Amino acid sequence: MTVRHFLDIHDFDGPTLQGIVSSARSRKDARSGAPKGATDSDKPLAGKSLALIFERPSTRTRVSFEMAMRQLGGEVIVLNAGDMQLGRGETIADTARVLSRYVDAIMLRAAKHENLSELAAHATVPVINGLTNKSHPCQVMADILTLEEHKGPLKQLNIAWVGDGNNVASSWMEAAGLLGGSLMLGCPDDLRPDGDVLAWAQARNPKVKHVATAEEAVAKADCVMTDTWVSMHDADGARRHNLLKPYQVNRALMAKAKPDAVFMHDLPAHREEEVTAEVIDGKQSIVFDQAENRLHIQKAILLHCLGG
Ligand code: CP
Ligand code: NVA
Repeated sequence: MTVRHFLDIHDFDGPTLQGIVSSARSRKDARSGAPKGATDSDKPLAGKSLALIFERPSTRTRVSFEMAMRQLGGEVIVLNAGDMQLGRGETIADTARVLSRYVDAIMLRAAKHENLSELAAHATVPVINGLTNKSHPCQVMADILTLEEHKGPLKQLNIAWVGDGNNVASSWMEAAGLLGGSLMLGCPDDLRPDGDVLAWAQARNPKVKHVATAEEAVAKADCVMTDTWVSMHDADGARRHNLLKPYQVNRALMAKAKPDAVFMHDLPAHREEEVTAEVIDGKQSIVFDQAENRLHIQKAILLHCLGG
């Protein structure tokens, strides 16, 4: 049987992605009001174990995967790459072969996308992408769940991505390419979205577009999204701040979207940089529902990979 990795949105078809989102929604509804430490009544992953490897810091990905696995009845081992023999030169391939003998699945937050590809190539158990410099598919799956809860089917929505054309933007382009909806990415030319990913998405959905300004992106938007200006793998912080200043999500920009538009951010956020405190802490913001949904979607992703 082929191993069911969860590496990137583009590896799936639309119905499979929608199936994962619906599975998350059903499990979320089924345990509404239950204590966070309580397991789901069916404990579908009892006896299964997941290793979480971090080459970069994390709050949401780490805690949501750990709680997701516990709620499904399984076990988790959290590993910081620097504390492993990986940090002393053991190869990723050997690490993959060894961990595959101990655990049932591996999640990696990778310093480089190639590390994830290498781990997946040599693991005989499912590998899950917990963010790389190129993509963040688990985040975007949680975003879809959140957006559909607040605004209805993705196909009918106008989404604006404002700021850096980064890893999260790439996973969003892939999702919009497969699932429909309009996705306008307002990014400066020097920080434009990945050209190959954009072309791939546009070939499937011509409503995925890069535009030059934040204002063009948010016109008619049902949702305005942004992300940090300096991602974990970026070294050129000062340059990015200069280029991205005109792309701040503030009250004036939100006023150019639909009056009932929501604001989303995958977090961590930097108030008064990519978004003002007034917007992220204001009525249109759904960022903590979005963060909560990381937990619910991780469960559906784990079940997709491990659920038989
Ligand atoms: N959004 C997200 O992935 O957050 P962490 O870096 O805290 O995991
Ligand atoms: N683009 C950000 C996302 C953090 C969750 C980064 O890569 O640092």
